[in-house]
Amino acid sequence: MNVQNLEKHTADATSVEEGLAIAQAQDEQFTSEMATETAMQNTLLTPRFYTTDFDELDAVDVSGVREDWDKLIAQMEADPNRGHFKKNEDWDHVDWDGMEPQLKKEFIDFLISSCTAEFSGCVLYKEMKRRGNNKDITQLFQLMARDEARHAGFINDALREAGLRVNLGFLTQKKKYTYFRPKFIYYATYLSEKIGYARYITIFRHLEANPQHRFHPIFKWFCEWCNDEFSHGEAFALLMKTDPKLTSGINVYWIKFFLTAVYATMYVRDHQRPAFHAALGVDPDWYAHEVFTKTSELSRQIFPITLDIEHPRWQRELEALQKANADLAEATERGQPLRKIGAQMRAARAFLSLLMIPARPNSVPVNTRLEPAY
Ligand SMILES: [Fe+2]
Ligand SMILES: [Fe+2]
Repeated sequence: MNVQNLEKHTADATSVEEGLAIAQAQDEQFTSEMATETAMQNTLLTPRFYTTDFDELDAVDVSGVREDWDKLIAQMEADPNRGHFKKNEDWDHVDWDGMEPQLKKEFIDFLISSCTAEFSGCVLYKEMKRRGNNKDITQLFQLMARDEARHAGFINDALREAGLRVNLGFLTQKKKYTYFRPKFIYYATYLSEKIGYARYITIFRHLEANPQHRFHPIFKWFCEWCNDEFSHGEAFALLMKTDPKLTSGINVYWIKFFLTAVYATMYVRDHQRPAFHAALGVDPDWYAHEVFTKTSELSRQIFPITLDIEHPRWQRELEALQKANADLAEATERGQPLRKIGAQMRAARAFLSLLMIPARPNSVPVNTRLEPAY
C-alpha cells in the first residue's frame, strides 16, 4: 500500500476491519522505531493494552436499558463524524523544524501517548466484537472500534508529518496485554472515555478563546472528536446500569480507587510536559482541576460517589505524588537504588493519602443518558 492510499484509507475508514488493515499496513519508510518503542513502554503512567473475560461481557443483557440503548446505537450508526478525520484546508502547515526543541519533544510524546491510548481502545473493542455472539454487544463494540481506529489513524497522520509513525500492527502483536475483569474494564474504560472527552473539550474551548496558542492544527479537530468519546462513555454507563451490583456495596470502593488512580495518573503525566502546556497557554494545575470537575460532574450519571477534589489534602498530595514521581525518574536514570526506593515509598504514601480522602455521596439520577454540554 502506498502512502497516499494509506492516508486516504485512514481517513475513510468506516469499519474496524478497514481501520486495522491500515494499522497493520507495514510501511517501512514511515515506521519509526523511536515512536513505536515509546508506545511499547508499560509503566504505571503509559497507556496499556487490555484483555478481559469476553464470554462474561458477551452475556450482558441490555433489555433493562433497551430504550436508551437503541437510541445511542442509532446515533452511533448514523455516524456524524464519518468525514471528520481527514485533513482539509483547515489543516495549516506545521513548521516542525522551527518548533522549539523541548516543545517538539513533549508534543511528540503527547501525540504518541494519545495514539497509543486511542489504539488501545480499538484493540480491546475489536477483540470483543470478534469473540462475541450477543448482537447488542458486538454491534456496540464494532462501532466503538471503528471510531478509535479513526482517532489513532488521524494522530498517526499528524505524526507522519514529523517523520514519525507508531507501528500499530507491531504494537497489536507485541505489546503486553493487561488482564482486567469485565467490571474493572467498565470502571477504567468508562472513566477514560469521559476524561478523554473532558480533556479534548477543555483544550478545544480554551483555544477557541485563545487562538494565538493553537500551535498545531490537530486541536481544531477536538470538538467533534470528543463527541465520539462522549458516546463511548455513555455506552459504558448503560452497560453498568444493567447490573446495580456494579455500582453498590464493595464496588463503591473499587470505583473510588479507579477515580483516584485515573485522576492521579493524568495529573502526574501532564506535569511531565511543562513546555507543551506553556505553548497552549494552559496552567496544568488549572487544566487538571477543570478536567476533574467536568469528569466528576459527568460521572454522577452512574457513580454513587464523587471524589472531593476541593479537599485541602487533594491538591497537596497530588503535588507530593508528582514530585515523588519526578524523583523516581531521576533516581532510575542515575542508577540510585536507595533514592529510588525512597521515592517509591513517598509516591505510595501520597496515593494512599489521596485514596483516604472521604468521598462525596451522590444520588444517581433515574435517567442515565447525557448529552455533551461543555
Ligand atoms: Fe478515541
Ligand atoms: Fe473512545
